[in-house]
Amino acid sequence: MAIPSLRRALILAAAAALPLSQLVAGQTIQTEDGVVLEANEKTVAPAVEVVAESDAPEALILTDDVIANLTDLNLSNITFFAFPEEDGTSEIQKRTLFGSNGCKTAPGDFLWPNRLTWKVFDLLTGGALIETVPIGAVCYPNSGVYNAAKCQQVLANWTSSDLHSADPTSIMSPMFQGETCMPQNGNSSTCTVGGFPVYAVKATNVAQIQLAVNFARNLNLRLVVKNTGHDFLGKSTGYGALSIWTHNLKKLEYIKSIKTPSYSGPAFKIGAGIQVKELYAAAKKYGVTAIGGDCHDVGVAGGFTAGGGHSPMSSIAGLGSDQVLSIDVVLPNGRFVTADETRNTDLFWALRGGGGATFGVVTGMTVKVWPKTNVSGMTFTVVSGNDTALPNDVFWEGMYAYWRRFPEYAKVGTQGYSQIFPSGTGGFIFLMVPFWVPGMSLSSFKSLVQPLLDEWTKIGFNAGFVPGVGEPKFFEYDNYYDAWIANFPAEAVGTTAIRTASRLFPAKNWEDEETLQGMMNNVRDVVEDGSALIQYNFQVKAPAGTPDSAANTHWRDALWFGIFGRSWDPTLPKQEVEAVNRKITEDWMGRLRVYGPGAYLNEGDVMEPGFGEAYFGENYERLRKIKKEVDPTGLFWAPTAVGSEEWEVEGQESWLVLQTGRLCRRAAC
Ligand SMILES: Cc1cc2nc3c(=O)[nH]c(=O)nc-3n(C[C@H](O)[C@H](O)[C@H](O)COP(=O)(O)OP(=O)(O)OC[C@H]3O[C@@H](n4cnc5c(N)ncnc54)[C@H](O)[C@@H]3O)c2cc1C
Ligand SMILES: *[C@@H]1O[C@H](CO)[C@@H](O)[C@H](O)[C@H]1NC(C)=O
Ligand SMILES: *[C@@H]1O[C@H](CO)[C@@H](O)[C@H](O)[C@H]1NC(C)=O
Ligand SMILES: *[C@@H]1O[C@H](CO)[C@@H](O)[C@H](O)[C@H]1NC(C)=O
Ligand SMILES: *[C@@H]1O[C@H](CO)[C@@H](O)[C@H](O)[C@H]1NC(C)=O
Ligand SMILES: *[C@@H]1O[C@H](CO)[C@@H](O)[C@H](O)[C@H]1NC(C)=O
Ligand SMILES: *[C@@H]1O[C@H](CO)[C@@H](O)[C@H](O)[C@H]1NC(C)=O
Ligand SMILES: *[C@@H]1O[C@H](CO)[C@@H](O)[C@H](O)[C@H]1NC(C)=O
Repeated sequence: MAIPSLRRALILAAAAALPLSQLVAGQTIQTEDGVVLEANEKTVAPAVEVVAESDAPEALILTDDVIANLTDLNLSNITFFAFPEEDGTSEIQKRTLFGSNGCKTAPGDFLWPNRLTWKVFDLLTGGALIETVPIGAVCYPNSGVYNAAKCQQVLANWTSSDLHSADPTSIMSPMFQGETCMPQNGNSSTCTVGGFPVYAVKATNVAQIQLAVNFARNLNLRLVVKNTGHDFLGKSTGYGALSIWTHNLKKLEYIKSIKTPSYSGPAFKIGAGIQVKELYAAAKKYGVTAIGGDCHDVGVAGGFTAGGGHSPMSSIAGLGSDQVLSIDVVLPNGRFVTADETRNTDLFWALRGGGGATFGVVTGMTVKVWPKTNVSGMTFTVVSGNDTALPNDVFWEGMYAYWRRFPEYAKVGTQGYSQIFPSGTGGFIFLMVPFWVPGMSLSSFKSLVQPLLDEWTKIGFNAGFVPGVGEPKFFEYDNYYDAWIANFPAEAVGTTAIRTASRLFPAKNWEDEETLQGMMNNVRDVVEDGSALIQYNFQVKAPAGTPDSAANTHWRDALWFGIFGRSWDPTLPKQEVEAVNRKITEDWMGRLRVYGPGAYLNEGDVMEPGFGEAYFGENYERLRKIKKEVDPTGLFWAPTAVGSEEWEVEGQESWLVLQTGRLCRRAAC
């Protein structure tokens, strides 16, 4: 649709249905020639279209009619906020792309928006624009925002995910923003914005997201999307970027019965900001079981579902993305659409497993739920090593006995979730946290695991159960929420100097003894060489009738998902840090890739070679095609996202890409 003449006009998408007079009261706008004007109905025109009588975020959207009603104000360039012309771009975008040397426009560039333009953008979004003050700035005496009491709070809560999800730009793997302005260093360094975005839009309605998308596309700005900031690969931050912060889109609605071509039954409609613990609590309230991750604070409709999403229900319900019935999304062209089984079907396919920050900004989705279910299981803690009653060789014998049984366990719906860490004294700590089965009685669960426990008794593995606290503890609950809350404590985050990678090991590895031995031996070698192992035993098949999706095809035949990785001493010289990082990607993953070519994009290696095949499997080529159609100019970008190979972050090591540099198109070769 062609856009009417927009020159020198100004759009307003007033937030939250506030009267404009209230919205702009006391605000001023400074023009480029220095004139200060009062912001009022004359200088900022109300132009939001109310499409529904409701408090839903999608009640406020930006449309052509809104733009057609613009007031000519002579203040700034309305094209900054406009939808693209028929050819997919706009005059302003052509100009900014031409002047950019193939890079996104960054602070300090001639074409970087001036203060007035940011101010106008802020007013249009109803005051939702936040200029980044890094979360640690309150600990820096010269930052201008120093506050000893707040600093103590940030320090005290640093490993709590709540602290970071509630901040517009903080992320939980700070390495990727360059560990700038870390609160712990307040007395010994200076605070810079580093790899954080420069501004964030605190989104509470769809129109704000549309404005931000149009603004970033038209002005060739780097755009990132942050929900909670859990991402392990640095996907929710970026130097010189405008960020769209979706955490506050908290609407949640229970739908007693919904009918789609493939599903009929209860569902939830959830806003993009809903977190696992909120969805699970609502499911308990309505007597159903909802699908989210293990941890409390991960964003369900954000990166989790976009990337697939495994859960303690996976062996029964499949991936998080298998639950989706419809998705509301703001596309790279600024338009707001719904994708489901009958509308925008390519997008519906791609948004379920094709990765976050790639095809647009999801504002909400409808997900199916499962019946209320009993959950049985057990936990235990084993310690091995010369200083314990369990020698390491017996530890590994016991571990092999467990691994061998993975096909049998996954088949009956279990999630075996455990962790192995080096003990620090040459042995290992093995935490079962927990091994469980939804829908199975405790007595059946005990029968299921008895042969393993018997074998462990026989070989002497039991000597490793930590006396008094570590012996197997069995449980049974009559609903998922109570079982989950008792077994999954809130996650600890914020660690620096740590890298992870992962592998999905397929069922066929268990069909051949030599392959099985090779896989187990190599996993053992990698752990003995210093890797931690967070491992899941489950099957992740799409339930019957699930519409085809872009979720990694490697999930579907996997029985074992392993997250590997290690931390290092941040004071190590750079060559040693390089050696550690190369070891993870090249040596450890090199050995294991042979047995598991696939990996999980949400819990993977930012340096995974051939990430397209590893993270998307057979779906990668189709995903790339859809990406090119939906986002022809590359507005959305994140490391290892679909199409990301066409761009690079400047100034990075060959062994580790952080988000601390300018984003540029890779030179065509
Ligand atoms: C402690 C911890 C526990 C975890 N447990 C699990 C688990 O049990 N199961 C599992 O599958 N994964 C798990 N993960 C991985 C998790 O799924 C990913 O980190 C996921 O990306 C988090 O999504 P988010 O939206 O909360 O985080 P963010 O870091 O805010 O976003 C992640 C990515 O999604 C994009 N994104 C976010 N919201 C939107 C949106 N509305 N529209 C478009 N793009 C968006 C971001 O741009 C970014 O690329 C865990 C991670 C951590 C740190
Ligand atoms: C556009 O302006 C007309 C006339 O003032 C008004 O009736 C209409 O509601 C406006 N439309 C939008 C979408 O703001
Ligand atoms: C905008 O500029 C034009 C021409 O300079 C002028 O006629 C018009 O009054 C101005 N509009 C406003 C709202 O100031
Ligand atoms: C914005 O508008 C001003 C004044 O009309 C004009 O001089 C300038 O070239 C425009 N800038 C862009 C990037 O279009
Ligand atoms: C943060 O720390 C303060 C004490 O300094 C505590 O009262 C508060 O509960 C903590 N918040 C979180 C989210 O952990
Ligand atoms: C900085 O030093 C002051 C005074 O010694 C101390 O109270 C404060 O906790 C220190 N800040 C940090 C971030 O370590
Ligand atoms: C453990 O004991 C064995 C045999 O005595 C020895 O070879 C090995 O070095 C010891 N390992 C550690 C970490 O102490
Ligand atoms: C479900 O669990 C409860 C204990 O929480 C138990 O009393 C009940 O018998 C279980 N039901 C089934 C069908 O196993």
